[in-house]
Amino acid sequence: MEERARSCLLRSRSTLVKDIKASYLMDHMISDGVLSPDEEEVVLGKSNRKEQAAALLEVLLRKDNRAYISFYNALVRENYGDLAGILHNDLPLVSPEAEKSFADGCTSFLQMKLSEGGVPQRPVVFVKRPELLNQIQKKLYQLQNTSGWVTVYGMAGSGKSVMASEALRDHTLVSECFPDGVHWLSVGQLDRPDLLVKMQSLCFRLDQNQSGESCPRPPSTIEEAKERLRFLILRRYPRSLLILDDIWDSVVLRAFDIQCRVIITTRDKSLTDSVSGLRLDVPVDSGLEEEKALEILSLYTIGKVQKLPDQALSIVRECKGSPLVVSLIGALLREFPERWDYYLRQLQKKQFKRIRKSSSYDYEALDQAMDASIQVLQEDYKELYRDLTVLEKDVKIPAKVLSVLWNLEVEEVEDVLQEFVNKSLLFRDCNQRPYLYYLHDLHQTPLKCIAKPCCRQSRRLTRVRSI
Ligand SMILES: Nc1ncnc2c1ncn2[C@@H]1O[C@H](COP(=O)(O)OP(=O)(O)OP(=O)(O)O)[C@@H](O)[C@H]1O
Ligand SMILES: [Mg+2]
Repeated sequence: MEERARSCLLRSRSTLVKDIKASYLMDHMISDGVLSPDEEEVVLGKSNRKEQAAALLEVLLRKDNRAYISFYNALVRENYGDLAGILHNDLPLVSPEAEKSFADGCTSFLQMKLSEGGVPQRPVVFVKRPELLNQIQKKLYQLQNTSGWVTVYGMAGSGKSVMASEALRDHTLVSECFPDGVHWLSVGQLDRPDLLVKMQSLCFRLDQNQSGESCPRPPSTIEEAKERLRFLILRRYPRSLLILDDIWDSVVLRAFDIQCRVIITTRDKSLTDSVSGLRLDVPVDSGLEEEKALEILSLYTIGKVQKLPDQALSIVRECKGSPLVVSLIGALLREFPERWDYYLRQLQKKQFKRIRKSSSYDYEALDQAMDASIQVLQEDYKELYRDLTVLEKDVKIPAKVLSVLWNLEVEEVEDVLQEFVNKSLLFRDCNQRPYLYYLHDLHQTPLKCIAKPCCRQSRRLTRVRSI
């Protein structure tokens, strides 16, 4: 459902709940095909008129534009003209038939599912990888009628998370295979207590979406959380997809081994060996083809691949087409268009220590690119960027938190963060309002090196955690 329509329903919820008789309206909505008999039963199961009205609105809020229009029409037909009047101005502009013809397949149904599921947005500069996309989507279609695991694996910064989220931006795939929703969980390296917290928050998210029922107490052990998730997914969201992003430990996978549909991204291909059921793998090349990598550089800089200087190809070759490194260098070149030689030399020096000693990937170039990104920041921005060491990987925070830490107005903080986002030193989740900011773990490696080990830092850390 369009944001405007949803917002209108939320604003007028109390007025609607006060007046409407859900059972009358639901007859129309069922005959329009926007409400199922099961959903009607849930609503009618509530003990009084007011609770039924509230339950119907909860169900409606999870639906698409067609449901809003049908609800509006039902109000008109049942002589709630004044209430229909409240909804009238925010009637979705698209006709129900037009729902499926949105540009690049991103319908409002899909946008809603992706937002609710916390699926990250595309990076600002994005190049298509049709073959890889096709492979991931083909594997996901295999989960249409059965539970199982799709493993997207490859090197750090190779584009696994970007492409896993891209694969979900497809109305047909999501509506046919995962009509009960997609649930994105950023995992990363974590210990058992942190894993429990992640599972609790997923339980909470799934529970919250249920109408009118009070949430039970959070599960207190991983086993309990696993059982709770099993119940929630199998009973309430049977045809949903769980996305476990950036998995390092099979302990995590065993905790989610609950016979549901899962896609994971990981650097370790063998992780799913320990889980049960169907297993499907999709390898991701560590680097892009040269023309794709050049396209990224051109999108950041001159706009046309043909106009790129000679150094562009050397840069792409030097970092072996790593999407992450090319994007970082691209962002730097956007700021300093005359520094092609300089960044190429920086990459060629390869002086930086390895990020992950167990990997054969050429991390030196990556490290160098990361460090170069930080070095071009103004001195005061560097100082502020250092403070981001308090962020743990994939922890997302609003600008307001940093405004406390930095003692700046929220707007000033947003300007600083915008600078970091522009330089690919920080990511922004625009699915949420206010925007949330977070670091990639590869950002954190150079950060750890430049952080000042002083007591001021630990005091700030305590402060951020306590907000
Ligand atoms: N198709 C793409 N087009 C443009 N840039 C991309 C693309 N894929 C990846 N990138 C760039 O590379 C960065 C890293 O991508 P991503 O986070 O998907 O890597 P990853 O393989 O998941 O890494 P990790 O193993 O560390 O989780 C992105 O933030 C983006 O800047
Ligand atoms: Mg990733």
